[in-house]
Amino acid sequence: MSVKLNEKFLTGFVAPEEVTKISHLTGAAFDVVKSKSGAGSDFLGWVDLPVNYDKEEFARIKAAAEKIKGMCDVFVVIGIGGSYLGARAAIEFCKSPLYNNLAKDTPEIYFAGNTISSSALADVLRLCEGRNVCVNVISKSGTTTEPAVTFRIFRELLEKKYGEEGARERIFVTTDRARGKLKEFSTEKGYETFVVPDDIGGRYSVLTAVGLLPIAVAGIDLDTMMKGAADAREAYSCPCIETNDCLRYAALRNIMYNKGKSIEILVSYEPAVQMFCEWWKQLYGESEGKDNKALYPSSVIFSTDLHSLGQYIQEGLRTMFETVIDFKNSVDTVVIPDDPNNIDGLNFLSDKELHDVNRMAMTGTLFAHNDGGVPNVVIEVDDRDEYNFGYLVYFFEMACAVSGYMLGVNPFDQPGVEAYKKNMYALLGKPGYEDHKAALEARMN
Ligand code: PA5
Repeated sequence: MSVKLNEKFLTGFVAPEEVTKISHLTGAAFDVVKSKSGAGSDFLGWVDLPVNYDKEEFARIKAAAEKIKGMCDVFVVIGIGGSYLGARAAIEFCKSPLYNNLAKDTPEIYFAGNTISSSALADVLRLCEGRNVCVNVISKSGTTTEPAVTFRIFRELLEKKYGEEGARERIFVTTDRARGKLKEFSTEKGYETFVVPDDIGGRYSVLTAVGLLPIAVAGIDLDTMMKGAADAREAYSCPCIETNDCLRYAALRNIMYNKGKSIEILVSYEPAVQMFCEWWKQLYGESEGKDNKALYPSSVIFSTDLHSLGQYIQEGLRTMFETVIDFKNSVDTVVIPDDPNNIDGLNFLSDKELHDVNRMAMTGTLFAHNDGGVPNVVIEVDDRDEYNFGYLVYFFEMACAVSGYMLGVNPFDQPGVEAYKKNMYALLGKPGYEDHKAALEARMN
């Protein structure tokens, strides 16, 4: 098994018997997921997705990715929340955060439509100037403001540049199978479309066309990624708390929460994992943060953030625990050279691999944070690659569903996301929101 839970750094914070003691709760929550008998059970398509995906569409995704690779220098992925985080996380995790700057035979990939910032959009438009561009707009509902506005702009750009027919060849749409304005419009225009399955919500959709098309355009092997997820599904199929790491992680989060920890910090020592942390934050924040409950999901990249948030974690309010993703192997090897003058006094590091130094920084930090009163769960992973990306996605998705049910919330809805939209629509004068606008204006005066 290439992903393994290490509970050594929980000593003194959580006793192994505490996990065993709540195994009836993890078991019951797991059963609710498996039997599809809980709240939001219409959205459990991700449970069997790694072995039960649409093979015909999978082949079409690969073919479209090849076409896109041959047709453009810049691939713009338009989407927000679950409609972009997974793809961006995968590309940075499996390739690099500097993917766009490194030499490659695949297009540069930029993400747009995940903000309403004019400057952010203008920058992507500048990057497209004089280059061949393809676009993938991803929106399950097809009506989300951020991607919809951005798609208007890119559609106009492509139609001006390539004409209606040329633009049609360069626009790829990922949306609902049959419903919604974007689906209707795509059918009318003749765009190639891919499906966000009915039974998979945005934040659980990275292994559907939502994530897979951009991931394939980046040249990442989809079969290996799906195999990782399928192996995780198999590994976490037993409701046994002693051996199922996914259930143990859900149990540990629950125990920590009940001991008064209100913040979980996901930690990695690899900058390439930063966007994976963003994906994880959405998964847990949107799934669990309801009814005035749940751990607040936060993240850091060490050792970078040891020089910013490290002080707080070591000595601030004792309300957090950390979940550390530890990669045993590094993708690259960098050796520290010897300096005959030893100007920095660091010759004790001469000829050592940087990755070994990074892992010693991790071990040192684990002890330091334990001594400072911060419990640490460690998730050991062999390699940072597509197989383990798929594996970790499944691990965190299943643990999230189980955790959500243990907490007593519906892990598959996001009613709170509507509150800002309602206000924004009213303030912008959307028809039908007149009374709400008046109420907000009265509050402003
Ligand atoms: O997880 C979710 O369901 C959300 O984050 C959505 O992905 C996000 O709001 C975007 O929605 P849509 O794909 O409908 O544009």
